[in-house]
Amino acid sequence: MRVILLGPPGAGKGTQAKLISEKFNIPHISTGDIFRSNIKGKTPLGIKAKSYIDKGQLVPDEVTIGIVEDRLQKDDCKNGFLLDGFPRTVAQAEALDNIQEKSGKKIDVSLLITVPEQFILERMTGRRVCPSCGGSYHVKFNPPKVEGKCDICGAELIQRKDDTEDTVKKRLTVYNDQTSPLISYYKNNGILSEVDGTDAIDKVFGSISNILGAQE
Ligand code: AP5
Ligand code: MG
Ligand code: ZN
Repeated sequence: MRVILLGPPGAGKGTQAKLISEKFNIPHISTGDIFRSNIKGKTPLGIKAKSYIDKGQLVPDEVTIGIVEDRLQKDDCKNGFLLDGFPRTVAQAEALDNIQEKSGKKIDVSLLITVPEQFILERMTGRRVCPSCGGSYHVKFNPPKVEGKCDICGAELIQRKDDTEDTVKKRLTVYNDQTSPLISYYKNNGILSEVDGTDAIDKVFGSISNILGAQE
């Protein structure tokens, strides 16, 4: 199964992606995670991406598309994949369609997680992430067992640099301007499904499982 996760920053894409990837046994490909691991490793890609991410802007299409194209060629994507945070512009969606056309395999579902803006600021400013294993938490909605420590590896949790109020507002503007046109793009392609992302994490996952289960 080939799935795209669509939705504003803080919709719960990463949270749901982890659950989907385990249940449906498909690799979770997050462009945001790829950039952040390159930033951590201070690679040339990381240095370039950081200058955009810290400002809440998108990394240019010509950089991002190539990364995803390479990743989709890996063996673990043969039987499907889950894209989280890509595509984010119409140009990226068109590039993805071209990549899929070459392989003769279409995207099955583009899953939109809808969350109104008034929820988003609280979700983003309360998010805490593990710099070591990538675990993700929320101080109120998904707290770790021991305050400030990762459940999985015990490392000290940190706040993402782009989760400050000012940068979240910029990311929302970028989403509305550049990414939300993809909703009609996939509606027109006939593969858009929608879930209400304001429910609790396990309830959202239940709705998603029903949609994806019907695809198998
Ligand atoms: P990226 O890392 O993709 O960030 P994003 O899309 O802004 O989304 P987030 O990761 O912030 O939110 P999420 O939907 O994953 O929510 P989460 O599950 O964590 O991108 C970062 C940057 O990289 C971009 O700004 C851009 O610069 C660059 N980039 C990435 N991809 C790119 C591309 N394709 N092109 C160009 N540039 C690109 O949940 C958020 C919080 O809410 C958590 O604390 C969680 O615990 C909590 N939560 C989740 N679900 C619920 C729920 N149901 N109820 C209550 N709380 C919940
Ligand atoms: Mg995410
Ligand atoms: Zn950890």
